[in-house]
Parts: sequence; C-alpha cells; structure tokens
Amino acid sequence: MSKNNDELFKNVISHAKEYGFVFQSSEIYDGLSAVYDYGQNGAELKNNIKTYWWKSMVQMHENIVGIDAAIFMHPTTWKASGHVDGFNDPMIDNKDSKKRYRADQLIEDKIARYEKDGKTQKAEELQTAMDEALKADNLTALRDLIVEHEIACPISGTRNWTDVRQFNLMFSTKIGAVADEADVIYLRPETAQGIFVNYLNVQKTGRMKIPFGIAQIGKAFRNEVIARQFIMRMREFEQMEMQFFVRPGTEMEWYEYWKQTRLKWHKAVGTDPAKYRFHDHTKLAHYANAAVDIEFQFPFGFKEVEGIHSRTDFDLSQHQQYSGKKLQYFDPEINQNYVPYVIETSIGLDRMFLLTLINAYEEQDLSEGDKKDSRVVLKLHPCLAPVKAAILPLTKKDGLPEKAREIMDRLKLDHNLVYEEKDSIGKRYRRQDAIGTPFCITVDHQSLEDNTVTIRHRDTMEQERVAIDQLERIIGDLVSLKNLLV
Ligand code: GAP
Repeated sequence: MSKNNDELFKNVISHAKEYGFVFQSSEIYDGLSAVYDYGQNGAELKNNIKTYWWKSMVQMHENIVGIDAAIFMHPTTWKASGHVDGFNDPMIDNKDSKKRYRADQLIEDKIARYEKDGKTQKAEELQTAMDEALKADNLTALRDLIVEHEIACPISGTRNWTDVRQFNLMFSTKIGAVADEADVIYLRPETAQGIFVNYLNVQKTGRMKIPFGIAQIGKAFRNEVIARQFIMRMREFEQMEMQFFVRPGTEMEWYEYWKQTRLKWHKAVGTDPAKYRFHDHTKLAHYANAAVDIEFQFPFGFKEVEGIHSRTDFDLSQHQQYSGKKLQYFDPEINQNYVPYVIETSIGLDRMFLLTLINAYEEQDLSEGDKKDSRVVLKLHPCLAPVKAAILPLTKKDGLPEKAREIMDRLKLDHNLVYEEKDSIGKRYRRQDAIGTPFCITVDHQSLEDNTVTIRHRDTMEQERVAIDQLERIIGDLVSLKNLLV
C-alpha cells in the first residue's frame, strides 16, 4: 500500500469508529480478533445496502424469491457439500514467532512487493507458479516457493518454516444437552447450502418454473486464521447470495447474464467504473465449472467483493445422493426430468459496506485566504445514506424547536431523520457531512412567518429556500430506490 493509500485507509477506519459505523467487537475487553460490531450509523447503512440488493434481486425479478434459512443445518449437509473434507486453507507456521500464516497470502504479499519494486516479470512468474501449485493442491510446491523467494515471517524476520498443512475453516459446536452424546454441528460457512436444501420446498410451494432463483441474506462463519484489512476478512460476516436454477446446457448464457447484471448493480450507485474489474478464477472451487470475481480497487489493491460461480449440478446432486431424496425438476418444455444446473451470485455484505464507505469518504480543504477550514464528507448515494435529513432549529428558543419537531413528525414516517439543536449551525452541518446526510433542513424565524425552511445540500453545500409542504417530495425523490432500480 502506498503511503497515501495507507493513510486514507487508516483515516476511513478511525472515521468509521468515531461516527458510529463500525466498532471492534467487545472492545471493553480489548476486542475479539476479526469480529466487528456495527454502530448506529453502520447498522442503517448496512440495512440500506441489504434493501438495495433484496429489491433489485427479488422484487425486480418475478422469477426470484427470497428465503431465510437457519444458521445451523444437519451436519450431513456439510459432508455432502464437500466442506468437511475440502473447505481448507493452506497454512504454514513460523517456528520462531509461532505465528501461523496462509501460505498463498504470504506469496501474494511477495508478488505485491515485486510489483511495487517494478519487478513485473518476477511477479508474473511467481503468480503463475502459485496458481499451478494451488490448482494441483501441491502443498510442497507452495512451501518451495516460500523458500525459493526468501519470504520471511513479518514478526520474527526469519525463514524457519514448518511444512504447509491444510486447515479447515468451519467452526463447530455441539447440539444437545449432554455434551458427550451430543452431535457435532457447524456454523454455516456460506448461506448457499440453506438454499440448496430448500430447493424442492420452494420450487413446489412457489410453483416455480425453471429458470428461477432463490435469494438469501444471512450470517456466515469462517475460522479465518489471519485477520486482515478491517472488515474485509472477518470470522463472522454476512453474505447476500442467490442461486439461479437453470436447464443443463444453458448455464454459460446465464453465467454471462449474471456477470453483467451484477456489475451493473455495483455501478448504479455512482462508483467510478474504472475501480471495478472482473477476475477469472484459475483455481476453480470443487463445485464450479466457471467462476469470476467482481473486484474493487480498495486502497490496498484490487480485491474480491462478489463471486459469480457456475456451480453445475454439483450441490443438488450431492444432496440427492446423501439424503436419498430426489431433487429434480420436470421440464414440461422438453418433457424431461433433470437435476438443475446453478449459477450463483455471492456478495459479502461487509465488503460491500467497506467499499461504499471508502468510495464515499472525502477530506476537503475549504480554506479561503487566511481562514482555515476543512471537512470530511461521506458522499454516499442518498438511497444508502444512514440518515436522510437532519432537522435543525437555528436557535433553541422563539418557537423554532416546536416548528422543527412538527416537520420531524411529518417526515419521520418515511425517512430516518435526526433532530439537533446543540452547537452552531456550522458545526451541526459538519457532523451531518461526516455521516453522509444528504439534506440539512434549517428552521429559522422566517419559517414561523411563511412556512419555508432552508435546505442545504451535502455535496454542493448550496442552500435553497423551499416551502415546508415541498419537503416530502424533494427528499422522497432523491432518496427513492427507484433511482437505482429502474
Ligand atoms: N457461496 C459461495 C461463497 O461463499 P466465497 O467466494 O467464499 O463464495 C463469497 O464468498 C463472498 O463472501 C466473497 O466475495 C466475499 O465478499 C465474502 N466473504 C468471504 N469470506 C469472507 C470473510 N472472511 N469476511 C468477509 N467477507 C467474506
């Protein structure tokens, strides 16, 4: 990370804490590594991202429905899905620092360093060698690369490495009252399996015809060994996933469709299109015959935000085999029974949250001549902003608070608002800029006379005088999800 990017990222993290977006989990006990809590503004922003996703996937597609499956699932689910045997990361320990690392991440860091030093060819060669080793599950080759490229432990600085070993990422616990007799169950590492095991329930009760999709938003858990980059890699996180069931042989068409549709969803919120790119997988997961990541240019480089996978009929066939229940579809158009193929779109809500925050964050110097001034503004899309408008009486007296409360009562049925009468109006504006509130509505003495207020626009800081009767329309028009969905 360059110094500027490093500084920007640090500033975004402290801003997220200072303004109630993200807190370290159990901070009073010094925190829990790679686990985070969302504060008052973070919870609103997260909910708005969820709503944008849910509406665009479920409400805007007649052939997609949403479910909410439990986090705990029958343990055989994870045997069938391949997670018990194959959901591993290649880990290596440094014998001096006793620290454990993901072998591929140590190598990726080395590649990034080569690139930074202008050693492009070396970077490319190492990338290719790592991809080949990962594809072949060749743990010895991974270790050889670490040794050959003289990768040292960031803590001890030594190259005293163990062998590379596979480490399963699923958390397990026990269900039942008597620990000895209880069955081991897992906290789901992806929400997708909750969709697969309900495929037939939804298809039958919803009379769904192929092609159709099932969507879900929910928590997933992975025992990530390395906590990295704030909320990018967490142990408890949220996914927004959709499985789209299609006729075998049509999957590549739908794969292309969902690639483009999902990228459009990302760009609609006004993010610079140059900051997005597709990255085709070289090592395919055990269930996929094609896979691509949508990557975003974070301050620490291009990283995955969403995955689009062509999962073939792997999951349904496995569940069919392990459960002994037929999970097929009778297609009246071709008069055939088959196990549907699946295209999956899977986006990490927390990564989308971080992307949104970073993309919106701007430090502005507003100094004029000798008068020093600055602000931090979150230029969030109004549909995503946690607070839609702040209602600010100019003073605490002369009936202005009462008038402001009247406006608040009228608008709060439709929007999340804040009311603030403390501090100068300038300070209050700055606080709202910092959380990305699109409108500040100031109630002054003129408001009592002619029922007008000033609206200050966050991005331009321009103010206009409008009738109170117009507020519902003005705010409603700008924050409506219609702006993103149609
Ligand atoms: N069902 C497919 C699946 O789970 P994945 O690529 O492992 O695929 C999908 O995960 C998305 O979930 C990723 O693109 C990422 O945004 C998010 N994600 C995965 N692991 C995460 C973690 N430890 N912390 C935060 N988000 C994560």
